[in-house]
Parts: sequence; structure tokens; C-alpha cells
Amino acid sequence: MQDFHDEIRLRHSVRNYLDDPITKEQAEKLERFIASINQDYGLDFSLHLNEDIFSRWILGYGFIKNCHNYLCFAGPDSPDLDEKVGYYGELVILKAQQLGLNTCWVGGTYRKGDVKESASSKLVCVAALGKGKTQGSPSKSKPIEAYYQGENVPEWFLQGMESVSLAPSAVNQKKWLFKYLGEDKVEARSSGKHFNDVDLGIAKLHFELGAHKKVFAFPCNVLYD
Ligand SMILES: Cc1cc2nc3c(=O)[nH]c(=O)nc-3n(C[C@H](O)[C@H](O)[C@H](O)COP(=O)(O)O)c2cc1C
Repeated sequence: MQDFHDEIRLRHSVRNYLDDPITKEQAEKLERFIASINQDYGLDFSLHLNEDIFSRWILGYGFIKNCHNYLCFAGPDSPDLDEKVGYYGELVILKAQQLGLNTCWVGGTYRKGDVKESASSKLVCVAALGKGKTQGSPSKSKPIEAYYQGENVPEWFLQGMESVSLAPSAVNQKKWLFKYLGEDKVEARSSGKHFNDVDLGIAKLHFELGAHKKVFAFPCNVLYD
């Protein structure tokens, strides 16, 4: 089982990139990973190299600088699409980190009109991808107790919550609330204002990776085979 333990700790949003291109090997490995996710979970994720959707944002001011690649997170429209995109999209983000690449989830600061998407899919958000000028830095986080409720929580639950506290979230809102319900049962909610369900999906994946336990409904062959 892959738990992406190191990648969860090393990943930070990176918004400034080097000119170095993504290597053929990195691109092929990421393509294969994305293809297996699309096939297994009915999504329409894609990797785009040498395409610039981040520059010229707001009269020339770009939050994402010198980035010429992106990941497109889309899928057939359904009530749980955003949460699915969060869960499986974060898996792709951690895979990219493992391959030595940097990323930043992007829901707002890109040119939607320039994204190549298939007509049958709904675009949820994208991620910047490349070799970062730096590795980024840890975002602000509260102690894990701020993100859960429950009595006599087991060690695996606490490890899950450590991993949740390192998860990316839109505008770093971190509005998650996990509840320990006894035995192996966990409930998770999020009450953020932006991309709330994407945040929730991301946090659920982080929880399971940290806890080494499958507690939520999304299947995950890549990790639990
Ligand atoms: C769903 C989602 C949307 C995001 N949208 C943007 C965005 O439009 N522009 C941006 O610069 N960062 C965006 N971010 C990155 C967050 O600001 C970042 O994850 C957060 O500040 C925590 O920092 P970290 O990723 O380094 O832990 C987004 C993150 C998520 C999860």
C-alpha cells in the first residue's frame, strides 16, 4: 500500500516556477496514473504540457508565475463530483509530488476559457504543475483538536487528523470537522465558503492515508489493493 506519508509532509502550494520542462519520464508516469484513475472512478482528469492558462491574470498580474503546465480536474456532472475531484485529484497531486514536481490547486486564478475540456465533462478546477522555484512553505494550521470531535479517540484516528491538518484547502479555510463515532466509524463535514466539497474530498483522502484505514465511501484501488 502506498500511503504518501512523505509527500503529504513535503507538499506545499507553489506559485512560482522554473523554466525547466517536465521530463518525458515524469510525464509518462503521471499520464499512466491519471489514466488508471479515470478508468477506475469514471473521471475525466487530464495532463496538459506547454499550455499557459495562468499568465495575464487580472491585467497582467499573475498569482501563478511562469507555469506552463496544468492538471485539469473534470468529470461527468453528478451531485458528488466536487468531492470526488477533491479525493482523487489530491491523489494525483501527491503522485506529482512523488515524481519530484510541485503543484498548486487553482479554483479561481486561471483563464477558464483556455482550458481544453471534453463536452461531456464538467470542469471543477485545475492545478498548476511544474518544477517550483522553491518547495513552498507550510500553511497556517490550528492544533488538530480544532478539526475533530470525539471521546477516547484511537491512535489511528489521531494520525488521520495529523494528515488532515496538512491538507490543502481553498483560501486555506480549513473548515473541516471530523467526528469519531466509535469502532471504525468516522463522519466528516466541511463548512467552507469556497470549493467546500473539493476541500472535503481532499481532507477525506488525507485522513485515510494518515490513518491507514478505509472509512469513507470512495473506493481507492491504487492504495488499498
Ligand atoms: C479547491 C482549492 C482551490 C484553490 N484555488 C486557488 C486559487 O485559485 N489560487 C491560488 O493561488 N491558490 C488556490 N488554492 C491553494 C490554497 O490557497 C492553498 O492550498 C492553501 O493556502 C494552503 O496552502 P498549502 O497548499 O501550501 O498547504 C486552492 C486550493 C484548493 C484546495
